Amino acid sequence: MNGNILNSNINDIKDEESSRALKYIELAKEKVTALEKELGRKMRACVVTFGCQMNARDSEKLLATLSLAGYEETDSEDADFVIYNTCTVRDNADQRVYGRLGQLGNLKKNNPHMKVAICGCMMQETSSVEKIQKSYRFVDLIFGTHNIYKFAELLNTTLESDRMIIDIWKDTDKIVEDLPVKRKYSFKSGVNIMYGCNNFCTYCIVPYVRGRERSRSPREIIRECEKLSGDGVKEVMLLGQNVNSYGLDFADNDPDRISFALLLEEVCKVDGIKRVRFMTPHPKDFSDELLDVIERNPKIARHIHLPLQAGNNEILRRMNRKYTKEQYLALVDKIRKKLPDVAITTDIIVGFPGETSEMLDDTIDVVRKASFDNAFTFIYSKRTGTPAAGFEDQVPEDVVKENFDRLLKVVQDTAKEQALKLSGRVEEVLVEGRNDHDERLLTGRMSNNTLVHFEADESLIGSFVNVRLDECHGFYYMGRMV
Ligand code: SAH
Ligand code: SF4
Ligand code: F3S
Repeated sequence: MNGNILNSNINDIKDEESSRALKYIELAKEKVTALEKELGRKMRACVVTFGCQMNARDSEKLLATLSLAGYEETDSEDADFVIYNTCTVRDNADQRVYGRLGQLGNLKKNNPHMKVAICGCMMQETSSVEKIQKSYRFVDLIFGTHNIYKFAELLNTTLESDRMIIDIWKDTDKIVEDLPVKRKYSFKSGVNIMYGCNNFCTYCIVPYVRGRERSRSPREIIRECEKLSGDGVKEVMLLGQNVNSYGLDFADNDPDRISFALLLEEVCKVDGIKRVRFMTPHPKDFSDELLDVIERNPKIARHIHLPLQAGNNEILRRMNRKYTKEQYLALVDKIRKKLPDVAITTDIIVGFPGETSEMLDDTIDVVRKASFDNAFTFIYSKRTGTPAAGFEDQVPEDVVKENFDRLLKVVQDTAKEQALKLSGRVEEVLVEGRNDHDERLLTGRMSNNTLVHFEADESLIGSFVNVRLDECHGFYYMGRMV
């Protein structure tokens, strides 16, 4: 490991906060144990994740606190503690939360011991909190993204109170390390490298609900990766809203200030970690240094998720994306030349204010030229408080729908063409689990993120195996182990 990393200062706050959390977990445990005795049964907790990988990683921390406090984990919302970890990136994410909350209210009527908590990005918006206060009176606890590390304390207070507890912070500059985590998968894990976002794309709510960029120290990140590796984790995904700006919030003379490319290289050196992924790089900051690091490190997955959002220069300018169609295509070209095996995937928004069908043709042109291996397409959703919500020329629904369908067709055709190129190859895959539809099959993920299903024994879950790619089914393959 690089000397700079070893020499960096330890943040005292973190130890204080994580030991406080443990103290409150003990207090909560006493209450949970008393309830168990009273009811003559185990207490069960359910954590529901609504958002992105970072939201999912937060959920793993919530679940660990609940488990240590004595709750058994369950997927059923008919439980004694139910917590919704919300997302607000698009309106349909909000609507899903309200829909499910309605049903949860009915379940709670039948279980007087049930506690309901809501946290996450949606709770950083005053209007959502007000709506819950008014229309979902049965909710016991509401907190936000900035004080999630206080969950143990809030859980303990909730268990001793019958009133609705609300604790939302506007912002924080604090990073709390060493909170307990209960991973969903034993063999792979997300690792936060930074929190927040400074980019302020005009359509996006994330900078408002997650605050400014805060990078974790490289030393802490490496330490976490080493610990995960010791626990049997073979694949890590480094997480941040714009991983390319990792470290830029440290002072120029701070030894912690290393580039994302260097950090990635350090993570690759951790023994036992066999594959490293990252999400999400912003195209405007994608450096040659990063490409060099990927090229010389076979551990780094051959998959780059490179959000395009739109292909028309006027729309890109109004989105505040800070690149042009031409710059984006030049970057894709450079990546494909240097890393011929890499899969490039993307996110695209359709129906941003002022986007005409001709403007969408530019996006379609980029999809064809970039030959995306996959693309997530979203209909623009107006988010109150963002600059774009005030833009006048919102696009009529029928135009959006027509453009969306037109784009989707090209995306699907391109993805299929790209997937077909892998036919007959033998690829190393990490076996992730049983196939949902066919019990005899296991599902593995290739370095380039494509899935393949094949017959094999369950004992292989969590290991790397070689699979021949026999039949392409659009986005996935059927194969056999070799
Ligand atoms: N930080 C990442 C992604 C954040 S949100 C990035 O910069 O790409 C994930 C995706 O949601 C975005 O890439 C974008 O395509 C989509 N998204 C964000 N805000 C949206 C909105 N208001 N309406 C529709 N889609 C949106
Ligand atoms: Fe949102 Fe843009 Fe930040 Fe991504 S980079 S989280 S799209 S503001
Ligand atoms: Fe959603 Fe928050 Fe992630 S708004 S996309 S859960 S950062």
